[in-house]
Amino acid sequence: MILQVKDIEKSFGGIKALDGVKLDIEENTVVGLIGPNGSGKTTLINVISGFMRPDSGSIKFEGRDITSSKPHEIARLGLARTFQLTRIFRRMTVLECMLLASKAQDDGLFNLFFKGKEIYRQERKDIEKARRILELLEIGHLSNEYSGALSGGQQKLLSIGMVQMADPGLVLLDEPVAGVNPTLANKIFEKIEREKEKTTFVVIEHNIDILMNFCDRIYVMNKGRIVASGTPEEIRCNETVIDVYLGG
Ligand SMILES: Nc1ncnc2c1ncn2[C@@H]1O[C@H](COP(=O)(O)OP(=O)(O)OP(=O)(O)O)[C@@H](O)[C@H]1O
Ligand SMILES: [Mg+2]
Repeated sequence: MILQVKDIEKSFGGIKALDGVKLDIEENTVVGLIGPNGSGKTTLINVISGFMRPDSGSIKFEGRDITSSKPHEIARLGLARTFQLTRIFRRMTVLECMLLASKAQDDGLFNLFFKGKEIYRQERKDIEKARRILELLEIGHLSNEYSGALSGGQQKLLSIGMVQMADPGLVLLDEPVAGVNPTLANKIFEKIEREKEKTTFVVIEHNIDILMNFCDRIYVMNKGRIVASGTPEEIRCNETVIDVYLGG
C-alpha cells in the first residue's frame, strides 16, 4: 500500500468533517473519491497532504508516518496535490510555471551561487522534461503563452503537468475536471490513467460515470465517513451507494 489512512477524525467547531476515515491505496492505481457536497472529501485531502492537522488517527505514505509532517515535507517525500493557479502563476508562461514546479528548484539558490554551469545543465534537463510533459498533455503548443490566458480546461491540464514535474509517487486531485466540457474531461482522465504506471492517483470527482470508466477503485463518502468502497462494478450495485448518492 502506498497510502494508509487510519481512523482519521477532524472537527470544525461542532461539525465532524471526518469521522473515522480509513483508506488503503494501492500503488499504480487510479482511485476515485466521491460523495455529496460537504461530505468531507476536500478536508480528507487537506489532512493527507498536511495542510490540516487531524484531531486523531494516522497517515502513512510508503510506510512512513506523515501524520504530523508539514506540507512541504510531505511534498518532498513525493506526495503531491495539484497547485491552484494563483494570480502569480497566471502572470508566468506555461513553461515558467512548469519550471517553478520542478523539484530541482529546491536547491536552486544553492546551485546559483556555488555550482555555476551545473545549474544551466539542470535547467536544460528541466526544460526538456517540461516540454515532454506538456506534449503528452497536448498543451505543448502553449508553452510560451501566459498561463492566465489559457482556457479553464487547459489550466487544469497545466496544473496536472506542474505536479508531474516533481515525479511524485502519489498525486491527490481535487475535482480536476470541474467546469471542463465532457470531451476534455474524458481526455484529462485518459491522461491520468496513462500516467498510473509511474504515479498513483486519488481523484475527487462528482461525476460517477467518469469515475466508473477510469478508476480501479472507488471510495464513497457521506457525512465524514467512508460508506462504501470497491471496484466500479461493486460500487454500481452497492445498496448504500444507491441510497446516499446515486439515488439523491
Ligand atoms: N476550514 C474549515 N472551517 C470550518 N468548516 C470547514 C472547513 N473546511 C471544511 N469545513 C466543513 O467540513 C465539512 C466538509 O467539507 P469539505 O469541504 O471537506 O466537503 P467536500 O466533500 O469537499 O464538499 P464539496 O463536494 O462541496 O467540495 C463541511 O460541513 C464544511 O462546511
Ligand atoms: Mg470539496
